[in-house]
Amino acid sequence: MKYVIALLALLLPVAAYAQEEAVAKIFAKRCAECHGADLQKPKKGIKVTIPPDAKLVTPGKPDDSPLWKAIRSNEMPPDNPMPDQEKTVIYNWIKSMGEKPAEKPAAVPAPEPPKGNTLKAIGKFHVIVIHFPIALIFAAVFAEIWGRIRPGAWQDTAVSYCVYIGAIGAVMACSLGFLYGIGRNVGEHQLFGFMGASLFVATALARICYGRSWQFTTLLAVTALVIGYAAHLGGVLVHGSFLLL
Ligand code: HEC
Repeated sequence: MKYVIALLALLLPVAAYAQEEAVAKIFAKRCAECHGADLQKPKKGIKVTIPPDAKLVTPGKPDDSPLWKAIRSNEMPPDNPMPDQEKTVIYNWIKSMGEKPAEKPAAVPAPEPPKGNTLKAIGKFHVIVIHFPIALIFAAVFAEIWGRIRPGAWQDTAVSYCVYIGAIGAVMACSLGFLYGIGRNVGEHQLFGFMGASLFVATALARICYGRSWQFTTLLAVTALVIGYAAHLGGVLVHGSFLLL
């Protein structure tokens, strides 16, 4: 939407310029010989120019403008009346002068991102750090499934490694997320992010206390779902709703 308004804001002056060009051609062809700006003695002391003499044109009100009245009544130009198509150009030109560009929606300034202090600036690292715990939880899930199918020391170590490092990363990312969220409308992303980080820590504790166990596996699965949903909500905040779900 912002871009549409910006584009309109760019096109309006172009359209206005094209319109003035057309009007200038008509004036040059039909009026200049008697009312030209360069004439010493224009007819009736009237110079037909762009921008027009305030006595000849009331901006936005053709019917109050002597210039349009003279053209409408075929009084001007005196000998051969102006074709309707050219009359329309003049009429629209005067009409459009009433539109004040300042009142166009383009004048609405784009919302500024919240002004940052140091804490909020640090919070920006949330967007980078967050990828590590997300990747690690799914790496842990993958190694856990593998280990369930084909138990082995290697799979066990991989699960523990991913869960411990991931839990630390989740706490860091969550803390940074709270800083990053200051002054922003982040909705449920914050809630699910916090739940995900807490569950991640609980999963790491379960790993320490119970080792390879169904308690751990269940917690890991729930954590992965919550983190996945929080990540989806975060993705929506950054990229819009078309990603993932
Ligand atoms: C051939 C010469 C000639 C041309 C071409 C001509 N005018 Fe005039 N114009 C006159 C004369 C002469 C008068 C004075 C008429 C009068 O006082 O009755 C006049 C008067 C006017 C007036 C004042 C009318 C009024 O009622 O007081 C306007 C406005 C005007 N011209 C606009 C134009 C415009 C716009 C054009 C081009 C589209 C144009 N004229 C082309 C000769 C010309």
